[in-house]
Amino acid sequence: MENVTLNNGVQMPILGFGVYQIPDVDTQAAVEAALAAGYRHLDTAAAYGNEEAVGAAIKASGIARQDLFVTTKLWIQHAPAGSVEEDTKRSFDNSLQRLGLDYLDLYLIHQPLGDYYSEWRAMQKLNMQGLARAIGVSNFHPDRLIDLIDHNEIVPAVNQIETHPFHQRATDQALMIERGVQIESWGPFAEGKNDLFTNPLLAAIGESHGKSVAQVVLRWLTQRDVVVIPKSVRPERMAQNFDVFDFTLTEDQMNQISTLDTGASLFFDHRDPAMVSWLGGRRNN
Ligand SMILES: NC(=O)c1ccc[n+]([C@@H]2O[C@H](COP(=O)([O-])OP(=O)(O)OC[C@H]3O[C@@H](n4cnc5c(N)ncnc54)[C@H](OP(=O)(O)O)[C@@H]3O)[C@@H](O)[C@H]2O)c1
Repeated sequence: MENVTLNNGVQMPILGFGVYQIPDVDTQAAVEAALAAGYRHLDTAAAYGNEEAVGAAIKASGIARQDLFVTTKLWIQHAPAGSVEEDTKRSFDNSLQRLGLDYLDLYLIHQPLGDYYSEWRAMQKLNMQGLARAIGVSNFHPDRLIDLIDHNEIVPAVNQIETHPFHQRATDQALMIERGVQIESWGPFAEGKNDLFTNPLLAAIGESHGKSVAQVVLRWLTQRDVVVIPKSVRPERMAQNFDVFDFTLTEDQMNQISTLDTGASLFFDHRDPAMVSWLGGRRNN
């Protein structure tokens, strides 16, 4: 497995396994299957409601802790002003307990909403104490990312954002590179939207390498140095998604895929007031 080196020297596998929308009852089996297929990097969140099942799979696998890279995410804290830092620490402890771990490899602020400056101050402490080897953010647009960097001590190691062939984030990535922030894709397949899995261009490129559309997409992202965390509940797809390092897309193929970019989200915009309010009203700690 290829690794990327984060801005604090921590090594992160460039390909991992995401568990969003896997029902809690199915998560342990899915993660056990992913670990059996070779995945060593897992991505969950307090908001997914399946941290305990991820932890149970880790325990059942018997894989040494230091051989795994585990990420979870902090949901928006709702405490009155002044206690968000304490609540962040409490949420972190709850996540660790549900996962059955005594440290995390990566802890992310899930949404750029609420008092995330206080959340970040608490996370900086967790990082300095070694409880989270790396800390980062998710869904941060460039303006929010730069503001957070410029007013804090620790630069986020990662920004996990929607990134796929229809929303490629090249400009965002360039800025992140400039500021030492690793880009990580969520929704590498756009969850199948826009008929991604039957896209004629991606299918033709796949055919030229004897690979599927899913494999082309993961190779295209990893060739751009984007960390990927595809989700699947099917072992044959888990294996397929893991098998993406034995071929290389040509420069011409990379350029052809660039033409699929629409420059817009296929899901929602974190700057849409209705969405900000809806997300802010959800409770997941
Ligand atoms: N930070 C955030 O706000 C955020 C938001 C969304 C997601 N994420 C993270 O990113 C991870 C990945 O994103 P995602 O789960 O939203 O979507 P995704 O990985 O883009 O797509 C998952 C979908 O693709 C299908 N699929 C997977 N491999 C396939 C293959 N080889 N061929 C055909 N279909 C395939 C899956 O179906 P089956 O399961 O039936 O195979 C599922 O329907 C999440 O699990 C989560 O960890 C983070």
